[in-house]
Amino acid sequence: MIKQAIIPLAGLGTRLLPLTNVIPKELMPINGKPNLEYIIEECISVGIKEFIFIISKKKINIKNYFTNDNLFKKYLKKKKDSRILSEFKKIKKYKKMIKFVYQDKPKGTGDAVLKCERLIKDKYFLMLLPDDLIIKENCSKEMIKLFKLKKSSIIASKRVPRSTVSRWGILSIKNKKKNHFQIKDVIEKPKIKNSPSNFAIIGRYILSKKIFKEIKKIKPGQGGEIHITDAIKSMIYSGEKFYGNIFKGMYLDCGTFKGYTESCRLIGKYIK
Ligand code: G1P
Repeated sequence: MIKQAIIPLAGLGTRLLPLTNVIPKELMPINGKPNLEYIIEECISVGIKEFIFIISKKKINIKNYFTNDNLFKKYLKKKKDSRILSEFKKIKKYKKMIKFVYQDKPKGTGDAVLKCERLIKDKYFLMLLPDDLIIKENCSKEMIKLFKLKKSSIIASKRVPRSTVSRWGILSIKNKKKNHFQIKDVIEKPKIKNSPSNFAIIGRYILSKKIFKEIKKIKPGQGGEIHITDAIKSMIYSGEKFYGNIFKGMYLDCGTFKGYTESCRLIGKYIK
């Protein structure tokens, strides 16, 4: 089974400046709680037992949020407050589940994943990009179901407007069924004319441990970063099977200002 989830959190969040000068984007509240807690809840409800958070010194507030409980304790000593008490219990529960690793230079998702190598225990693990919230349906649950069927790596995917392909990792597909397909190839942020389809990668991956070896082999790609997409590509070329899961839920992009504002509105509307 899949018991560990890794979450890259070292990105600078420049698209959300000036807020991200002081608040990590993953802690920005959406309908009363940090973006990151939606991701944690999605994982816990599918049986994830351990999280590996990849942070940087600049993002130390993420660690503080989940580990520093002094203020809670002080406050609760003075006052019985049921809301604060339940928040305190929740944070304590999360604290036990999280390990932190550091990526001090933003060298890409591939590099971030590699930092977790020594902590991954099982053959497969889940990776979630926290900018991508999926609501209404649990995307990780659908992916684990497909994983059980295919016993291979899985990537979440959705169709995007062709005019936007250069914002995403794009998949070349075969044997398309209603909710999934096999991935023939993948290209990170292609030009419209080079895009093999309009099925984009959305930030949920079930990856095999073998990916670590592949990441070590690849060279920096777009923007001088080590992209997980390039490691996936070279695994596909060497015969590893990957499937795309066309998820049912509603996708929210929390990584841009427009997307963040829209996410607040939609989560307020759909999640009670
Ligand atoms: C990352 C991935 C990309 C994927 C996207 C989904 O890009 O590299 O393949 O389509 O997440 O949000 P980023 O958002 O870091 O530019």
